[in-house]
Formats: sequence, C-alpha cells, structure tokens
Amino acid sequence: MTSPAKTVIVTGGAGGGIGGGITTVTAEAGWNVVIVDIDGEAGQALSDRLARKGLSAAAFLCADIAAPGCAEEAVSFALSRFGRVDALVNNAGIGLVKPITEVTDDEYRHVFGVNIDAAYRFSRAAVAVMPESGGAIVNIGSVHALANIPGYTVYATTKGAIDAFTRALAADVGPRGIRVNCIHPGLVPSPQNRDLIRNFAEDVDGWLDSYTRQKQMLSQLPTARQVGELVTFFLSDAASTITGQAIAIDGGSSAMLYERGS
Ligand SMILES: NC(=O)c1ccc[n+]([C@@H]2O[C@H](COP(=O)([O-])OP(=O)(O)OC[C@H]3O[C@@H](n4cnc5c(N)ncnc54)[C@H](O)[C@@H]3O)[C@@H](O)[C@H]2O)c1
Repeated sequence: MTSPAKTVIVTGGAGGGIGGGITTVTAEAGWNVVIVDIDGEAGQALSDRLARKGLSAAAFLCADIAAPGCAEEAVSFALSRFGRVDALVNNAGIGLVKPITEVTDDEYRHVFGVNIDAAYRFSRAAVAVMPESGGAIVNIGSVHALANIPGYTVYATTKGAIDAFTRALAADVGPRGIRVNCIHPGLVPSPQNRDLIRNFAEDVDGWLDSYTRQKQMLSQLPTARQVGELVTFFLSDAASTITGQAIAIDGGSSAMLYERGS
C-alpha cells in the first residue's frame, strides 16, 4: 500500500519570486501544497497552473498571515483538504528600506507582524498537529541576517530574529522528531526585485550583471527555483538528521571580505 502524500503549508506561496519557486518545486516533488497568500489573483493563477501541469494537489487560501487567527485557519484548511500537515515553510516576508529616524511605529509593527509574528504563530499551529512520526519547518531568512547596508535596520532585525527562532524552535521540537532549518537567500532576480532595481537603474540586466561581478564570488544569481530545491531537500528524508541550521544561497556574497572589483 502506498502512503498518502505529505502536506506542506507555504506562506506567501503565490509570489512571483521565491514563494512561487517553493510551491512549484515542492508540488513537483509530490507534496500536497497549501498556498496561503494575501494576493487572491496570483494564488488562484498558480494553483490553476499547477493543476494544468497535472499537479492538482495544490490548494489556495487567500488570507493575511499577520492577522490573528490566520495560522489556525490555515492549519484547519490544510487538514480539511488533505487530512494532515507534515511541513511548513515560513516564506512570506516584506521589506522596508528607510533610515531608522524615518520609520514609524506602524511600519515597524507591520514588518514584524508579517516576518516574525506570523512565522511564530504558523509554527505553533503547525507543530500542534504534525504527526507523531515527525515533521519539518523551513524558515526563509535573508543575507541581511548576516551582513548589511544602510536602510535595513527593521528588515534585518526580523531576519536575524528568524535565524535565532530557527535554532530555538529546533531545540524545542527536536525530541518530537520535528526539524527546523533556515535558508538565507541573497539577491534573487524576482519580478519584485527587478521592479525595485528599475527605480534606480534604467538597465536592470546591466545592473544585475555588475552586481554579480562585484558582490558575489560566483557570477550567477541564485534563482527562486534553486531556493525551492533547497527547501525541498530540507523537507525530505535525505535531511532527516539536519536541524537548527541556517545556510546562505547567495553566490558566496555573504562570505566575501572584499568586493571582487570586476
Ligand atoms: N527575493 C529576494 O531577493 C530575497 C532575498 C532574501 C530574502 N528574501 C526573502 O524571501 C521571502 C520571499 O521573498 P520574495 O521577494 O521572493 O517574494 P515572493 O515571491 O515569495 O512573494 C511574497 C509573497 O508573500 C505574499 N504576502 C506578503 N504579505 C503577506 C501577508 N500579510 N499575508 C499573506 N501573504 C503575504 C505576497 O502576496 C507574495 O505573493 C521573504 O521572506 C523575503 O524576505 C527574498
């Protein structure tokens, strides 16, 4: 008898960048995927696209993950659709680039609400229903947890918090066979990032080319799909003895001492 497919909840799983990469690769690997995203149109479009590829085991819940009660709603939704929750990917995250003197309390709270409060609540709700045989959580951090440039105090603080949260939660839930790991992506050329770069550089591809040549050891940017592949590895049995770890996928940018210069 074949065992039923496992179920993973992916917050922000409808995104045109890393979220979509994670949803697509986990679905291709045979997971039932529950996408929880505030963008109704993108969520529906992605689950329809996966269904057309024959990967019909994707379900979409349109919700604001920062809202109280959303995590419990998402877990109930996953249980009602697939009968189990084996894994969670805390992917959804929002940025803020501003000097600290200009950040309002509301902006600060909003970024923490999405990047940290939601990850905490979703983890709590998912762990409570994971099977006795164990489970896995992957948190999406950022290289901003490791090194910085001006304007990122709030965003970087949330990403440092998710890095520490990974180890602390791994210690809590390890005895139950639940593993928790963290991925710190570098610059991924997602549609959102390309739009962002367009604000200060006319030639987006030229800017990205010069970025990789100066700021990374390797001349290739990490892709959303590659982040999805790393997530899928952490969720798999091949990673059954890995927990409490964080790894950067950034072409070596966070390990560089000097810019390459050309
Ligand atoms: N893209 C990058 O270069 C990069 C680099 C380092 C880290 N990250 C991190 O990776 C993660 C994904 O980033 P991305 O830029 O690839 O975006 P993405 O493509 O994963 O899109 C993010 C998704 O989150 C959803 N979302 C935002 N707020 C939400 C809310 N309150 N409730 C529900 N859904 C919400 C959006 O609708 C969007 O679909 C984030 O945690 C980000 O901080 C991204």
